[in-house]
Formats: sequence, structure tokens, C-alpha cells
Amino acid sequence: MIRLEKVTVAYGEQVVLDGIDLEVPTGKTMVILGESGSGKTTILKCVLGTLHPVSGRVLANDLEVGKLTDEELLRFRQRMGMVFQEGALFDSMTVGENVAFWLWEHTTLSDDKVEERVRMLLQFVGLESSLDQMPSDLSGGMRRRVAIARAMAAEDPAFMLYDEPTTGLDPFTSKSICDLMRRVQREFKSTNIVVTHDLTDAYRVGDLFTFIKDAKVIATGTRQEIEHSSDPFIQTFISLDS
Ligand SMILES: Nc1ncnc2c1ncn2[C@@H]1O[C@H](COP(=O)(O)OP(=O)(O)OP(=O)(O)O)[C@@H](O)[C@H]1O
Ligand SMILES: [Mg+2]
Repeated sequence: MIRLEKVTVAYGEQVVLDGIDLEVPTGKTMVILGESGSGKTTILKCVLGTLHPVSGRVLANDLEVGKLTDEELLRFRQRMGMVFQEGALFDSMTVGENVAFWLWEHTTLSDDKVEERVRMLLQFVGLESSLDQMPSDLSGGMRRRVAIARAMAAEDPAFMLYDEPTTGLDPFTSKSICDLMRRVQREFKSTNIVVTHDLTDAYRVGDLFTFIKDAKVIATGTRQEIEHSSDPFIQTFISLDS
């Protein structure tokens, strides 16, 4: 489970999240929708523990993220995969090294074990043959796959966070990335948060949906509940997409 309780975040004077509540049950995927600048990435940062709310708290299973010691935070992040906006690969490393890097940083696995795991992960995302390629030689969709392989490098990724994983991809590639995200969820029974602008992709990967506007949650629920919302912003958002 991931739960935000009355979380308020401000950058200086600007209140970006104003006492928001959010709950993602274990093994489910919550999609966060909202306009650019509405605070979606900020929510992910709070869950990662890289940003501390002014008030409120963030829970991940039995852990309160803001209260973890450095060592506990490290252990928490070992079970967390994050796919950053734009993928954010290291351009000077091969695909294999990009995935291995996380394992070098976060585990004490031997080089042989790291290599074995990197191959397994790249196979999972369908990129085994790209092991020695550089990120610059890959397509956008392939780079996203590498970012997902890297995010699930943990032995047992309990939490997966995706920040706009399909932005900038063509519809076919977007769909294949969504399928991959669903496969990750099934395989690891992970608890997931996906930020996206795209309603089609949201419906593909989401079990639950939350709309953020003016620093507040304006609606949350299943697809059916969202579609029946009488909020004019949500109605417009949904009608623009169809
Ligand atoms: N480090 C920061 N310092 C100051 N303001 C920030 C910082 N990070 C984000 N903001 C501001 O907080 C607001 C929310 O940012 P956030 O990145 O969470 O939005 P977002 O919903 O992810 O937007 P997008 O869809 O464009 O990625 C924006 O107005 C942004 O300018
Ligand atoms: Mg963002």
C-alpha cells in the first residue's frame, strides 16, 4: 500500500499540493492525471522520500517515509523502482551498464550475478540483444524499456513509480510500454503509481485514477467512477481525449 495523508508541499510561497489524500492498495496501479505543473511529479518525489512535505505523511506499507533513517531509506529504495520523466539514462554507459549500475549501487551482488540479472531484466523487456548498445543508438521506445528494466532491477520491486512513461512515443510503442508495465505489475505484484497526460494509456495501465487540480485531488476512483464525475474539468479532460 502507498498512502498520502493530508500531504502539503510548498516551494517557497507556492503551495503545490494542499493537504491531499491518496491511497494505492497493494498490487494495484494508481494513475495520476492533471495539467502540466499541477504537482504530479511532486507526488512521486514525496513517495521516493527525496522531498519532504510541509505537513502530512506518506506511508508505504508499514513505513512512514519521512521518518526513515538514512539506512532505512536506503533499504526502502532497494524495493522501489522509478522511471523518470524522459527515461533519464546515462548516455556514456551501455544499456547493460545502465541496468547494472543500479545493482552496483544498491546491492552487494558479485559481478557474475549482476551480469546474470541484467540479462534476465533485458530479456524481460525484450532488449537482450541491445546489451552492448549505447542509449543514443536506441529508439525512444527502447530507451523507455531500458529505464523500466533498470527500475525493476531490485530483487523484489514492491513499489514502481512511472513519470510519464509514454510521452513522446507513437501509439504502437506507447501500447507496448503499457503492456510491459502491466506485466511488471503481474509478475511482482508491485504497488504502482503512474503519472500521465494520456487517458488512453491511463486506462490501459490503471486500476484507479486520481485527478489533481489547483493543488487538490478533485476526483479519485475507478474508471467508471471517474467517468461519472460531474466535475466540469474532468468531463472536459475526458471529452478532449475521445
Ligand atoms: N524544485 C522546485 N523549486 C521550485 N518550484 C518547483 C520545483 N519543482 C517543481 N516546482 C513547481 O511546482 C509545480 C508542480 O511541479 P511538478 O513538477 O510536480 O508538476 P507536474 O504536474 O509534474 O508537471 P508536468 O506535467 O509538466 O511534468 C510547478 O509549478 C513547478 O514549477
Ligand atoms: Mg512532471
